[in-house]
Parts: sequence; C-alpha cells; structure tokens
Amino acid sequence: MAYENIIAEKKGGVGLITLNRPQALNALCAALIDELAHALDDFEADDDIGAIVVTGSEKAFAAGADIKEMKDRTYMDVYGQDFITKGWGRLATTRKPTIAAVSGFALGGGCELAMMCDMIIASESAKFGQPEITIGTIPGSGGTQRLTRFVGKSLSMYMNLTGEFIDADTALRSGLVAKVLPNAEMLDEALRIGAKIAGMSRPITMMCKEAVNRAYETSLAEGVLFERRVFHSTFSTEDQKEGMNAFAEKRKPSWKHR
Ligand code: HXC
Repeated sequence: MAYENIIAEKKGGVGLITLNRPQALNALCAALIDELAHALDDFEADDDIGAIVVTGSEKAFAAGADIKEMKDRTYMDVYGQDFITKGWGRLATTRKPTIAAVSGFALGGGCELAMMCDMIIASESAKFGQPEITIGTIPGSGGTQRLTRFVGKSLSMYMNLTGEFIDADTALRSGLVAKVLPNAEMLDEALRIGAKIAGMSRPITMMCKEAVNRAYETSLAEGVLFERRVFHSTFSTEDQKEGMNAFAEKRKPSWKHR
C-alpha cells in the first residue's frame, strides 16, 4: 500500500515507521492513524520483522491529534463513533516489541502514541507534554492514565493541568524514557536496540513483553504468578533448550523461532 502520511520500510529485522506530515508537525489526522494501523498490521504479519520502531522528524515526533480536523466535531459525533479508539490503540496491542524514537515535540496524542510503545528512546531535543487543557479538552488516549503510571501523580498532574512541556532530561529522570542521545545518534540507537531484540527468540520476546505489560494491568501477586507461569511455559520451547545449551557449550544460540 502506498502511504501519504507515513513511510514504512524494513531495516533488516526491524520495521521502521516514520510519521511524515512535516507541514503539520506530524499532527495525527485520521488518515495518518489509518495508515499507521495498516503498517503495524503488515509488520505484525511479516515473519522477517522482529521489532518495530516508530519515529517522526527532528522537529516533531507528533504535535498531537489534528486540532483543525477535530475542532468542529460534536459530542454525538465523537461519542457515537467512539472517536479516538478506532485505529489509535493499535500500537498498544502489537505483540511484537515497539520502540518510539522521539525527537522534538511529542505532545498530546503524540505523547500518548509514544507511551503506547514498549519503550521510548529520546534525543536531547525531545519535549513531552499533554497540552490538551490549553485547548479546552483533556487527553483521550492515555495521557491521564499511562503517563500517571509511568511518571507518578505529581509530574503527571503538573503536565496535564498546566500543559507545560518537560524536556528530555526530566523525561529520563522520571522514567518516561529509557535513554537520551544526541539528535544525530538517536534513531540509529533505536534501530540498534530494535535489531538486538529482533535477534532474540521471537516467541520468548513476545512472552517477555506480555509479562512486563501485565504489571500495569494487575496486582503484584497476580503479576508475579503470571510471570512464573510464563517462565514455566518457556521450558516447553525449543529456544529455551537452545539458549541454555548454547550457554553451557560456550557458543552463540541459534534460535529456531526468529
Ligand atoms: C493541527 C497542527 C498541530 C496540531 C501544529 N500544527 N500542531 N495542526 N493539529 N496538533 C500545525 C500548525 O497549525 C502550523 O500550521 C504548523 O503545524 C506548524 O506549527 P506552528 O505552531 O507554526 O509551529 P511552532 O510555532 O514551532 O509551535 C510548535 C507547537 C505548536 C508548540 C508544537 O504547533 C502547538 O502548540 N501545537 C499544538 C499542540 C497541541 O495542543 N497538541 C494537543 C492536540 S489535542 P500552519 O498551516 O499554520 O503552518 C490532542 C488530543 C489527543 O492531541 C486525543 C487523543 C488522541
């Protein structure tokens, strides 16, 4: 499929999706979200792909949902169509690991999109914010929920109630992002991490992701039980045998399932 608002390409075992609406700082219009969901479906179905990186431009990962597109919509319109759910949550439901590679503005829906990924790698220019309050609304895709779980109540309240942005250093200290790099190195590092993950056993990687994500959905006791059961189930795979035998034999594992 030819895309107009994104670029989807394969970089070895990594699927790279670049949000590409520079004239609107990658504002997330409905067409872009549809294309993103389509590209994610393709990469999920592609056996060559073991991880997915989503990035934007140097100036903006994404400046939020497209305000001009949504400004005149009515309550019955957005409620009736359950506006935002369609397509928007696709990143959060991918089974393959996902990395947001963020430079510049990640605001509103842009910050929410980044938070749907399994980790965020940021460049020094990254700015994260939930400025919806400044345009008379609130976040609609996780900005009050995921952000609060990731950075805690005080910083989340500050960001959501003032609309002010935080810089990459604050994002790193608060745990919102995993790493901060100079602008010129950030995407390469995200792709390196993606390639490393793609080089692991595919089913074990997916099980590991499921277990980490469970931490946000359940109690500690239930989460630890879930983890233990999944840990047990890895012993039914050929790749657990291969991984542990390779260690004992002092060689690199050759995964059966990649
Ligand atoms: C539509 C947008 C946009 C947006 C920027 N543009 N953000 N268009 N929706 N979210 C457009 C501008 O209108 C302008 O178009 C062009 O991109 C460049 O933007 P400027 O404002 O001129 O750039 P700059 O002065 O550098 O300011 C950058 C900025 C500012 C601080 C990021 O653009 C801004 O505040 N944007 C809105 C941020 C925001 O409120 N996001 C939350 C949206 S609500 P023209 O045609 O004039 O050149 C949301 C809800 C999510 O995300 C709900 C759940 C999904």
